Amino acid sequence: MTTWTSDEMAPRLGEPIDDLETPVLLADVDAMERNIREYAAVADEHDVDLRSHVKTHKNAALAAREVELTGDTGICCQTLGEVETMARNGIDDVYLSYQVVGESKLDRLCWLDERVEALATTVDSAATIDALDAAAERNDRTLHAILEIDMGLHRTGVDPDDAVGLAERIADADDLAFDGILAYDSHVKSEASTEAELEDGCWAAMELAQEVVDGIEAAGIPVGEVKVGGTATSRYSARHPVVTEINPGMYPFNDVGELRLRPWEVSKTDCTATVLTTVISVPDEDRLVVDGGSKTFSLDKPQLPVPKHRDDIEYVNASEEHGWIDTSEADESFEVGDRLEFIVPHVCTTINLHDLIVGVRDGAVADLWEVQARGKVR
Ligand SMILES: Cc1ncc(COP(=O)(O)O)c(C=O)c1O
Repeated sequence: MTTWTSDEMAPRLGEPIDDLETPVLLADVDAMERNIREYAAVADEHDVDLRSHVKTHKNAALAAREVELTGDTGICCQTLGEVETMARNGIDDVYLSYQVVGESKLDRLCWLDERVEALATTVDSAATIDALDAAAERNDRTLHAILEIDMGLHRTGVDPDDAVGLAERIADADDLAFDGILAYDSHVKSEASTEAELEDGCWAAMELAQEVVDGIEAAGIPVGEVKVGGTATSRYSARHPVVTEINPGMYPFNDVGELRLRPWEVSKTDCTATVLTTVISVPDEDRLVVDGGSKTFSLDKPQLPVPKHRDDIEYVNASEEHGWIDTSEADESFEVGDRLEFIVPHVCTTINLHDLIVGVRDGAVADLWEVQARGKVR
């Protein structure tokens, strides 16, 4: 049996966007870089490092560009497979913000630790600390550990009251180095709906992080790093002196979630990841259907795609390859073959549905980024 593929219609550098087959995932290169510079300025202002979370785009060239534009040295990953992809493509300073569990994965971590300049990983229990220490000994390495604190998200992380005991366990381990804490603060996001609430929530979370740091340092263990979260919260949390590093991921792109959450600072022009679709059917004057459904836009969150350049039509429903568009408020009529561009609802999981991100400048293909760590969930 032969495998037949055709890349004749694959996007080419310089090609007009209007000529691309759809649905196609686009990223506005200049606006994306403007977003990166904006966060770099926030980090500079508050004297914290910006270690971009590359789980959003999973591409090493974009990761390298983030490092270049932020002036920082490293990146952040969420899976070991992402770390591998980045390491194989020349990124050599990585923080893995995730617990590595199981001997074979821990041995892979050690293998990677030998190959990159700097690698740190996350622990939040006696079990993860002891297994990491055993792997380090087995592989003759010293591994760098960050202790994750549960700041209120109630996902992973040790209860703040138990942090000192686990910090001591790491500091006492023969083959581990205690680098600091992860104080991921994204619970604030779901609790805040105004700028003041986001500011106050982040400050309160960082006060808690300060208490944890003080407790660990009172036990004689220096806390080198305090890493905090994501796109919505990190620019607020960075204002607190306890923070040493922010780890936003979505910030080059934003998405409908960020647009809805922070209307005072995120506008449609800041939402740089879009999908260009084509109208495939116009069943009646109030409705049309585009070629982008739930296999094109990730719908893992309540929000739906939002039209990038107009407000008179609404994406109202999706099946796998169909997007229902309500056109009842629009003055113009639409035809099969028209093109409509939509901001993606959730950028991380939408990129993960695509092979390629097409960088756009001045209406033409300016760059092509393969979603290299797509599927690398192990
Ligand atoms: C531990 C950690 N840090 C940073 C991020 C990046 O956050 P955001 O996607 O809001 O930019 C995430 C996202 O899931 C995360 O889990």
